[in-house]
Amino acid sequence: MTNPVVVGITGASGAVMARSMVDALLRHDIPTVALCSNAGRLVWQEEIGEHFNDTLIEWQEHPAFTHYPINDLRAPVASGTYPTAGMVIMPASMNSIASLAGGLSGNLLLRTADVCLKERRPLVLVPRETPLHSIHLNNMLTLSRMGAVVVPPEPAFYLKPQSIEDIVDFVVARVFVALGLDQAMPEKMQYQGPEGELDSHHG
Ligand SMILES: Cc1cc2nc3c(=O)[nH]c(=O)nc-3n(C[C@H](O)[C@H](O)[C@H](O)COP(=O)(O)O)c2cc1C
Repeated sequence: MTNPVVVGITGASGAVMARSMVDALLRHDIPTVALCSNAGRLVWQEEIGEHFNDTLIEWQEHPAFTHYPINDLRAPVASGTYPTAGMVIMPASMNSIASLAGGLSGNLLLRTADVCLKERRPLVLVPRETPLHSIHLNNMLTLSRMGAVVVPPEPAFYLKPQSIEDIVDFVVARVFVALGLDQAMPEKMQYQGPEGELDSHHG
């Protein structure tokens, strides 16, 4: 069994991206740990139209899925001694990004991300805010310099996305690459070059 990938869900817009990310990981039987902030639950209800607990019940049908409550600081993922394959925060709020950049780890999601930074494990951020002010940008720069990969959820207009699902699939594929999960990435999620060749590293 490979080490789990942690998916942190915060209260930025874009809950659908987190849902697709967890769905994709579980489709590939990749052990997955989900952590959701309180604001993340609010946005989930607003954007998905379903209580986060109901989504958890669905995911919990998969044996590779685990969830810990946001204040459970005794959960295994809070410790650097517990091996994980890395973490993505998706969507990442400016609040959580600021906390991380400031070294604050007051909930399980932030603590787990902080552990990734200190243990030099992959940490991917999918920030969502617009426009961005200098503090937002500075915080992302700080985290990028510490090794985090910042993957803004931007559509690949050259692929002529027809739906939100197309855009979300593209972002999920970019996160798979950033986490080093290229091997697990399904062909349909990879970039088809002009000659039809597969190029999962295309921006
Ligand atoms: C419907 C809704 C949408 C939001 N969208 C964003 C957003 O896109 N980006 C952001 O940084 N904050 C957004 N917020 C504000 C965050 O939820 C708020 O800053 C919260 O404190 C974040 O807490 P967390 O980082 O613990 O999840 C949104 C809030 C709501 C209710």
